[in-house]
Amino acid sequence: MKAKKVHILTYGCQMNVSDSEKISSSLRSVGYEPTGTIDDADMVILNTCSVRAKAEEKIYGILFTMKGELKKKPNLLIGVGGCVAQQEGEKLLAKVPHLNFVFGTHSLHLLPQMVRAAEGGRRVAETNFIDNDSRLDLFPSMGEAGGVTRFVTIMQGCDNYCSYCIVPYVRGREISRRAGDILEEIRIAADNGTREVTLLGQNVNSYGLKGGDGTDFATLLRRVSGIKGIERIRFMTSHPKDISSPLIQCFADMEKLCSHIHLPVQSGSDRVLSMMNRGYTRGEYLEKVALLRAARPDIHFTSDIIVGFPGEDEDDFQDTLSLMEEVSYADTYLFIYSPRPETIAAGMTDNTSRGEKQKRFDQLLDLQKRMSRKLHRSYIGKDLEVLVEGAGKHEGQVSGRSSGNRIVNFTGSLDMVGSIRSVRIVKDFQNSLLGEIH
Ligand code: 5AD
Ligand code: SF4
Repeated sequence: MKAKKVHILTYGCQMNVSDSEKISSSLRSVGYEPTGTIDDADMVILNTCSVRAKAEEKIYGILFTMKGELKKKPNLLIGVGGCVAQQEGEKLLAKVPHLNFVFGTHSLHLLPQMVRAAEGGRRVAETNFIDNDSRLDLFPSMGEAGGVTRFVTIMQGCDNYCSYCIVPYVRGREISRRAGDILEEIRIAADNGTREVTLLGQNVNSYGLKGGDGTDFATLLRRVSGIKGIERIRFMTSHPKDISSPLIQCFADMEKLCSHIHLPVQSGSDRVLSMMNRGYTRGEYLEKVALLRAARPDIHFTSDIIVGFPGEDEDDFQDTLSLMEEVSYADTYLFIYSPRPETIAAGMTDNTSRGEKQKRFDQLLDLQKRMSRKLHRSYIGKDLEVLVEGAGKHEGQVSGRSSGNRIVNFTGSLDMVGSIRSVRIVKDFQNSLLGEIH
């Protein structure tokens, strides 16, 4: 029998990318092979994000355009998973009549049987949360695809309840995976050619506090570092309030740990940080930055920043600008505040106009662009160790990343993939570097 094909569209964060890998491998059990285009697909799955309203609206737009596909292919099955699915559940089936199934963030394991039901003509939604230890066995694995760099989910959910954030409501309580399971998965990946892993969670610094098997995050890092074949380790995302001394010590003495930390600050103003329920002050954040820099002088910081949080005034905004400069981020992901259902901040008074928020956003973006460019310029003439990941931007080039997570393209051949090369930087761009082997 000809294999059926599934096209998976992934939106939002790396966590969704990781879930999509799991979706892809679990659908093989019901006869679906992945395909990169919708044209030859028998089923389309949208793995969605609801962290900002715009991302959510986009899903409705895409579902609407699918109506056209159905005219060409009336038997096409359409499913929605991820955070919008979790949030909307059955309502999504009611709103979108041509949708066949909806599966929430804790229902990935039910997907094969849901697909069977959909094939039988039933419309189904599953959005129950599993808040007990059986969830430990349901974690997304890395999937089957090999790769020089891989993401591995070490925990799910979030208990922090930042006042703007929908994640605790759509991903459930925080729970850590057992260290043994994580290490086993990484060992297998390393045997299959993986050289770099990024340990993934909403807040990896609290790894092991809930669930898990008593191993804390710093210990987990050290155990991953012991795996033969793994040459680089990264992690994402860190909560500043939970950066511990043992973790800082890892940056001082663990060679395999890359010189980069994504440490979202969200705002530089104490008043706004308190309204956001972030659990740290500007001063405490800067103290952690200083300790990390002392441990690893060439560490690169990146951040997420929300502009236009309810009540943010000009002084608060200036505090964010000055903090950005003080830390001198390599990159920041900037977002205009978006009210989300169920969150505390959605009920706060917000008198700042959209135009003013956009102006502040543009100012932050401009500053970040200048800082990133300055950083990139400072590499000219210097050598960076680059892990080669694949083909580069242009013919005859390969591409990889430095320990500080900068993209470097240089002339080379694909047999270099998987190796670490010393590359001299000869040209800088806004988002990447050009180098040459010497
Ligand atoms: N509005 C704007 N940005 C948000 N983020 C989370 N919730 C919101 C929201 N309601 C941003 C935060 C977080 C990143 C993943 O998304 O900066 O770190
Ligand atoms: Fe959202 Fe805060 Fe949890 Fe991050 S730490 S997922 S911003 S609630």
